[in-house]
Amino acid sequence: MADYDVKNPALAAAGRDRTEWAEQSMPVLRQIRARFEKEKPLKGVRIAACLHITTETANLARTLAAGGADVALCASNPLSTQDEAAAYLAVECGLKVYAIKGEDGETYYRHLNQALDLKPQITMDDGADLVNELHGKRRELVEGVRFGTEETTTGVIRLRAMAKDGVLAFPVIAVNDANTKHMFDNRYGTGQSTIDGIIRATNRLIAGSTFVVSGYGWCGRGVAERARGLGAHVIVCEVNPLRALEATMDGFRLMPIAKAAPMGDFFCTLTGDYHVIDVPHFEAMKDGAIVANSGHLNVELNLDGLAKISKARRKVRDFVEEFTLKDGRRIYVLAEGRLVNLSAAEGHPSAVMDMSFANQALSIEWLLGAGDALEKKVYTVPREIDEEVARLKLAAMGVSIDELTAEQQDYLGRYDMGT
Ligand code: ADE
Repeated sequence: MADYDVKNPALAAAGRDRTEWAEQSMPVLRQIRARFEKEKPLKGVRIAACLHITTETANLARTLAAGGADVALCASNPLSTQDEAAAYLAVECGLKVYAIKGEDGETYYRHLNQALDLKPQITMDDGADLVNELHGKRRELVEGVRFGTEETTTGVIRLRAMAKDGVLAFPVIAVNDANTKHMFDNRYGTGQSTIDGIIRATNRLIAGSTFVVSGYGWCGRGVAERARGLGAHVIVCEVNPLRALEATMDGFRLMPIAKAAPMGDFFCTLTGDYHVIDVPHFEAMKDGAIVANSGHLNVELNLDGLAKISKARRKVRDFVEEFTLKDGRRIYVLAEGRLVNLSAAEGHPSAVMDMSFANQALSIEWLLGAGDALEKKVYTVPREIDEEVARLKLAAMGVSIDELTAEQQDYLGRYDMGT
């Protein structure tokens, strides 16, 4: 009996075509898969992965399976699943896949638990929901878990909080913290895919608009830069003084969200925090303001609060909901406040996911090699892996770089040469 729950198994062939299209832009992962196929470093290892089920993730899952792993997959967000990719992985690759785009909260958690029924030795998370569920409702499985990986900033923050309180039950590697992950995926990936999601959902012109970006971490930087590239007047809101200073010197206008609220045509949150756009901000917005979130969770927008101050709400286009305030002003919320880049568009382009998922695959291989010597804390990706991913990516892009001469190498180790 097939063990999967996907929207429509008949989408498998379309999923294969789309996954192969993505694969063309994932040369590093392709190389890793070819090696894994020969060496089988993950032979017999059970992996439960809670990731956005996209064509890029399909290529990662195929890589893990090529390495010999037994893989179960569930979605890390109810709206981010690409049903074709899920069908392909289930039907043609024979993986256990539990993910349907638009699933409700109950189904989301049922799917998560079905993936956990594999009794994983390794967990892979994008937002730490799997780790949370294991530590809460599925404690009987914790003993069998050797370690985990975490893909995203929000998940790493949650895990570090768990480690600090001494409750994290196994070591986890923070893939997000690899340079070849966050400097590219978070910045260029989120930058492009967020704008892509906003444009696909609204078909509105960005040029000449006022575009408010909340949060100037790597993701916020990417979005601010791309919005500017399309001709928007970009305002950045940030709580961290260093980041705010950086944004100012990068040429953006900085101000508190309360001041930006009446000015923006578009708003996008990427902070990882709670109610960043709250009721007073919605109340101050212009008629027609468009509000999106591209942070991991929809809690960045106080949507319950918005509903309470609205006299009506209706869907006006796919992924666009209109809220009418008591005085008749309309506010448009995209994709229910969920990650707009994965809900209304297709997530980050394959070329950046290539690096993120190369880090995932190589980190798992490294963790298996590290044996059980690791402590129950959050580890960063080893520098050798990070540099190897950069080297392989450059080579695949046909970019060659200089190497230090022996004399230059020697110079860097000396401290006896003055001015
Ligand atoms: N996170 C952001 N974009 C993604 C993608 N294309 N696939 C998987 N996870 C993602």
